[in-house]
Amino acid sequence: MALPYLNLREMEEAAAAVLSPAALAYYVGGANDEVTVRANRDGYAALKLRPRMLVDVSQVDVSTTVLGMPLAFPVGIAPCALHGLVHPDAEVATARAAAGMGSLMTLSTMSHRSLEDVAHAAPGQWWFQLYVYRDREVSRALIQRAEAAGAGALVVTVDTPYLGRREAIIRTPVHIAPGTVLPNVGPRRAGSEHLDDLSYFDSLLDPGLSWSDVAWLRAQTELPIVLKGLLTAEDADLAMQHGCHVWVSNHGGRQLDTAVTALDALPEIADAVAGRAEIYLDGGVMRGTDVLKALALGANAVFVARPALYGLALAGETGVRHTLALLREELCLALALCGRVRISDLGPDLIFRR
Ligand code: FNR
Repeated sequence: MALPYLNLREMEEAAAAVLSPAALAYYVGGANDEVTVRANRDGYAALKLRPRMLVDVSQVDVSTTVLGMPLAFPVGIAPCALHGLVHPDAEVATARAAAGMGSLMTLSTMSHRSLEDVAHAAPGQWWFQLYVYRDREVSRALIQRAEAAGAGALVVTVDTPYLGRREAIIRTPVHIAPGTVLPNVGPRRAGSEHLDDLSYFDSLLDPGLSWSDVAWLRAQTELPIVLKGLLTAEDADLAMQHGCHVWVSNHGGRQLDTAVTALDALPEIADAVAGRAEIYLDGGVMRGTDVLKALALGANAVFVARPALYGLALAGETGVRHTLALLREELCLALALCGRVRISDLGPDLIFRR
């Protein structure tokens, strides 16, 4: 099925028309005044490219690897909760789309489908995102399940000691039907895997999480660990000291409003990391040129959350494929128009500085 949307903005508009008010608030909403939500997108437009001419671009190659995993193009799907709010196949459809496109899905802890279902749908092409619970034994059990099911990495979200104040969601709350099982949330004990609303999930998160817990996590698994939600060179440095990779993110503007954008934070983090770890980025990526700019400034790959959810809402697996295909095609064209042939040709010289 060919979908008519020419770009991700058109998909966003179309999805807004089909989502329930609560799902729309949940997906689109950011924290407080949503300054950071807007800044995430605006930041890309403000950066100008320095294209080179008279380069043979008759063949461009956007393939790459992340943590040794081959990707057809350097765009993956960021973890986001509750895909089942918009499509019955939920995370399984998203995972199939990502794997089918040679991309990568990061499965949220807070998913409707189990990590084993996703592993089955996308063998070898998924990472698992972990929220560390107050109950470390529950977290340890989840890590073991993810490792046993073949996750390529453990992405530990560290910007969420508490959920940010998302006012649109407070106004129009998402209700998870009583009896719904979120199979990666909470222990597999009677009563504790059933959620009635998101505040229960908030209560599972541990605001006491600190670097000593990262050392504990590092000791629990052989999987590569990626810390998601870092925004400073200082924390990137600590991540490396703890043997972790770095995911630069402000959680799509859903946590600390007016936080620095990932794009703005990227140069200092790339300097601090200096090639010793991998760097990923998310937040506001809507165009192939956005991907290009993040890669030029030091990201190994970028991730999208909302655009994938819009695709899922519009057409399930086909819709998520459409999201990824648009980004891939736009990236190929932008690379060629910049006079670059492959991802490894990209560097900070691509970005204009006054
Ligand atoms: C998220 N995000 C997120 N992050 C995470 O680590 N675990 C999660 O469960 C979720 N859930 C979630 C739900 C929804 C509806 C959204 C929009 C986002 C944050 C996500 O991984 C990512 O950091 C940003 O959303 C990226 O920005 P874009 O691509 O949405 O602009």
